[in-house]
Amino acid sequence: MNAKYQNLLSEAKKASENSYSPYSSFAVGSAVLSASGRIYLGANVENASYGLSNCAERSALFNAFSNGERNVKAAAVWTRKGGVFPCGACRQVLFELAPSADIIINGSDGAILVLKVSDLMPFSFGKENLK
Ligand code: THU
Repeated sequence: MNAKYQNLLSEAKKASENSYSPYSSFAVGSAVLSASGRIYLGANVENASYGLSNCAERSALFNAFSNGERNVKAAAVWTRKGGVFPCGACRQVLFELAPSADIIINGSDGAILVLKVSDLMPFSFGKENLK
C-alpha cells in the first residue's frame, strides 16, 4: 500500500524534529523528492510576528528550488496526529513549483494518503492567467 512513499514520509517525520514552533507547539515536517532522486527536507519555522511563520511544505520546496531543482515528483507532509493537509498558502506554492507532484500525507489511522496537487487546488490561479 503506497510502499514507495514510506521512505519519503519517514524523511518528513525526521524533518519535523527540526521544527521551530514555540508558539503553536505543532511540529510539521516535509520531504520533497526531485526527479534527480534527491530528497530535500523542511520544517515549519515560526516567528513572534506570527504571520511571518513558514510552513514545512514551503520550507522543503524552497530548499529544493534553492538547490537548483525544478522538477518535483512528490512532497510528503508529516504530523504527529496525521490527517493534516497543506494550508491554502502552501497549496498555491505547490501549484506553482510542483504542479504534477504526488502529495503524500500520513493519515490519522496510520494509512498513507496520496493526492495530486489538482485535487487540492481546483479553480486555481497561476502563471497562465497572467498571459
Ligand atoms: N503548518 C505547516 O507547517 N504545514 C501545514 O500543512 C499546516 C500548518 C504549520 C504552520 C504553523 O507553524 C503551525 O503549523 C500551526 O499552524
